[in-house]
Formats: sequence, structure tokens, C-alpha cells
Amino acid sequence: MQFSVSRSPISQEKTTCAIVAVHVNRLSAEAQILDKLYQGHLSQAVKAGDLGSKRGATLSLFMPKASNHKRVLLVQIGKQKTLSIVAFRSLLQTVVKAVHATGASNALNLLMDLDVEGSSRRAKARLQSSIFSDSLYQYSETFSKDKPARTLKRVVFHCPDTATSRQTQTGCAQGKAIASGMAITKNLGDLPGNICTPTHLANEAKAIKRGNKRLSVNVLGEAEMRKLGMGSLLSVSAGSAEEAKLITMQYKGAAASKKPIVLIGKGITFDTGGISLKSGAGMDEMKFDMCGAATVLGLMQTLAELDLPINVVGIVASAENMPGSKATKPGDVVTSMSGQTIEILNTDAEGRLVLCDALTYAARYEPDVVIDMATLTGACIVALGFEACGLMSNSDKLSEDLLASGQASADRAWRLPIWDEYQASLDSNFADMANIGGRWAGSITAGCFLERFAKDYQWAHLDIAGVAWNMGKDKGATARPVPLLTEYLLRRANLA
Ligand code: BES
Ligand code: MN
Ligand code: ZN
Repeated sequence: MQFSVSRSPISQEKTTCAIVAVHVNRLSAEAQILDKLYQGHLSQAVKAGDLGSKRGATLSLFMPKASNHKRVLLVQIGKQKTLSIVAFRSLLQTVVKAVHATGASNALNLLMDLDVEGSSRRAKARLQSSIFSDSLYQYSETFSKDKPARTLKRVVFHCPDTATSRQTQTGCAQGKAIASGMAITKNLGDLPGNICTPTHLANEAKAIKRGNKRLSVNVLGEAEMRKLGMGSLLSVSAGSAEEAKLITMQYKGAAASKKPIVLIGKGITFDTGGISLKSGAGMDEMKFDMCGAATVLGLMQTLAELDLPINVVGIVASAENMPGSKATKPGDVVTSMSGQTIEILNTDAEGRLVLCDALTYAARYEPDVVIDMATLTGACIVALGFEACGLMSNSDKLSEDLLASGQASADRAWRLPIWDEYQASLDSNFADMANIGGRWAGSITAGCFLERFAKDYQWAHLDIAGVAWNMGKDKGATARPVPLLTEYLLRRANLA
């Protein structure tokens, strides 16, 4: 998708679809200009009730032949004067769908003057352009025929002056980079487990690196991980014919003396549960159990495109969790890279087993902060549903930064406690700890498990089980939390 800014008068802009806001029965300033130009055509349609008064309603009006504006798409904002960022995001998603439905090849975006809570012009442009670009994503890899490409190619943002057009331009470039990371994350998530294996993730990392001097990749196989003592991670791939991989991508955008932000992703390319086998219904969705890893890889792409002046290390801990004659059994005890021993009481609690060794490994990069992302617990969906990911952390500062970034990007997180009192549920009679707690607070006890391996630095864990993919008819990866983390990285670089 191409973005540009323009300062020509609205009446002179040539477009196949002008997008304008309506506030219940009142036309926005931009809509009024078009209404005048087309002799009251817009206001008549609104007055007749064709648009409706519900926020998110849209109405496409075809203009007379030879007009500069082939169509005008009216967008109902509703009563509220100021929109929350989350409401703005869902409004835009509806708008983009409506634009695609018209078959327009380009659009004139006249929504920049909407009041959005705490959102600057640059932030609004960033969000809008990321949504427009992301709407071009279509999964096609495993169909015999390609889907027809979307017709919308170009979006023009109307801006009143030089200062605002500069802000808008910066925001659009950022949004485009976010969407290109999201496309990688979505595609890896959507790919089936027979294609998207740990080796496939390693190859994808190499493809992202290609041609970018600031990126480097390192892939460890099982023999190398055994030498490092990663007995916990290796216990997960023990029953699988697919080799586990530890993939590290380094992005160097600042002086070597600047401590890196380390991002870790859970990359279980398929989670059968292992010997503690999952039940059959909906098990196909466990191909999405590598969405944390896909987020890390997508973010590396976004980072490289944004050329941010920070240092970031991305670590993907990838394995396939299968039953088999060599698979780990309930009651088996393994030794993690940290030296701590773990009694594996449930082989389906495998995410923490790969992450704990990655957390220990991360210390060698002398991180400023470490953030892990994982589709870790079904309990997180019970607690927070599909709105927010669960945040657990040993640092109030890092928590606040991530919560604020989630709010600003409409990709929200919500903090859960990991008080010491919860730790006792991980007690084991046969090892330093068990890999599961009791029946209750399942997301928190998973967080408590991870915390034991993250003692030496500021750390946060994002449980993305409820947000990483959509279920049902629109089943597919969402690329969350790429927007949240990009916002965090932009803020760290003072470029948000
Ligand atoms: N990948 C799953 C968590 C999950 C389940 C995410 C459903 C999204 C939807 C994870 O590996 C898992 O199986 N967790 C168990 C933990 C339990 C055995 C303590 C769970 O949530 O049931
Ligand atoms: Mn599992
Ligand atoms: Zn899992």
C-alpha cells in the first residue's frame, strides 16, 4: 500500500473514494465541503436515515460522472465527540472493509481531524496506515489457486499544513513498517504445523536478515543446546521427529555499549500436549502455539524497516510437542540450563519448559530488559478473554511502560500479580519445582515458574493465548502483540 500526503483543496483532490466522518446528523467539516460541491447530496442521504446513527455504520455514495470524487464513503462516528483509541481502531477496521467492498483503487482519507483520546497526529497516522496496510494481508500459501488481489493500492491523507503533513508522513512510514512485520507474524501463525516447523522458523529468520546489515542470525540445533545444558527445552522436543531450534536474531542500531532489549518468543510449532495428550476438539488451533515466536520475528522485520537507534535481541525457542516412544513422561525430572531441576507433571505445560532455558540463555546479552511472549495458558483466556493479554513482571517500571504502550496502540495488556504466596503451588517432592501449579490461577503460576529463571534482570511476560489468533469463521493469526511491542520500541527510541 502506498501512502502520500496532500495539501490541495479537498474539492480538487481526485480520488475513487473520499472517506468522510459524520457525527449523528452533523456532517464533519470535510463532509460539508463535499456536500456543498455536490449540491447537498451527502446531507440528504444522512437526513433520510440511510447512514443510520450507530458508530461504525458506513454508506457509499456514487457521485455523478466526471466528478473528482468517484465515491464518497460516509462514516458514522456517533454521539461521542472524542473516541478512545480502541474505538478508533475498530472503527477503522470497519471503514477499511467498506472501502475494499467498493472496489476503489485509491482513497482520500479525510478522517485525520477526528478527536482521538491522547493521540497525536503522528500516532493517528501510524494507526490508520498500519490498519490500511494490514488489510491487504491474505493467507494464500496452501490454496491451489491464488486469491484475487485487493484493488486498493493507494491512500492519500489530506493535511492542512506543512507541519501536520510531516507528522502524518512519519506516522505513515511507521504504520507501514508495523504492517509488514504483522504480515510475517500472521503468515507464520496461519501456516500449518506440517510446514511451519522449528526449521522453517529458522529459515524465516535467515530470510528476514537477508540484505540487512544491522541484523544477524544464529541458529542452535539440539546437539548445541545439549552442550549448553538446556535439558528443559530439549525435554519438549524429545517425542518429535522435528529438531528443536533456538534462533537468535540481533539488531544493532546503537552503540555496542548500549544494553539490548531482549524479546523472547514461545515457538511450539504444534502442541499436541505430548503424553498428557490434549482432547481432539479444536486441536488444529495448536498450530498457533508459535505465535510468540512469530511476533518476535515480525518485530525484527519492523525494527529493520524503521531503522531504530536501539539494540534488540530476538530469541525464539522452538520445538514440536508430540507423544512418542522417546517423549517425556509425567513424573520425569529434567535439569534446566540454570541448574534448577523440574519435575514434569504435565507434558502439556511445555511452553514454560522451553521459555525457562531461553530466559537463562538471555542473560549472556546483559539485557536492559527481557520481555517474553507466549501463548502460555488457556487460563489467561478465562481471565481476560480476547481483549487483553496478561502481563506479569518483576518490575513496576517495565509493567507501566508496557501497559501504556498497549493503551496507545490499542493492543492492550492487563497486569496480573505474581506474589511470592503463589510460588508454593509449584512445590515438588522430587525436584526443585514442578512444571504445574494447582487448579487455580493457572496463568499466574505459569508466570511464577518463569520468574524463577529471570532473577538477574528486569523481566516481563506477556501471555498472549487470548489475543494471538481469532477463532471461528475468521480463524487466523492477528499479529498481536506486534503493535504493542512496536509502540514500546518506538518509545524507547523517543520516536513514538
Ligand atoms: N499452548 C497451550 C495454552 C493454550 C491453550 C493457549 C488453549 C491457547 C488456547 C499450553 O501449552 C497449554 O497446554 N497449557 C495448559 C497448561 C496446564 C497443563 C497447566 C493449559 O492451559 O491447559
Ligand atoms: Mn501445552
Ligand atoms: Zn503450548
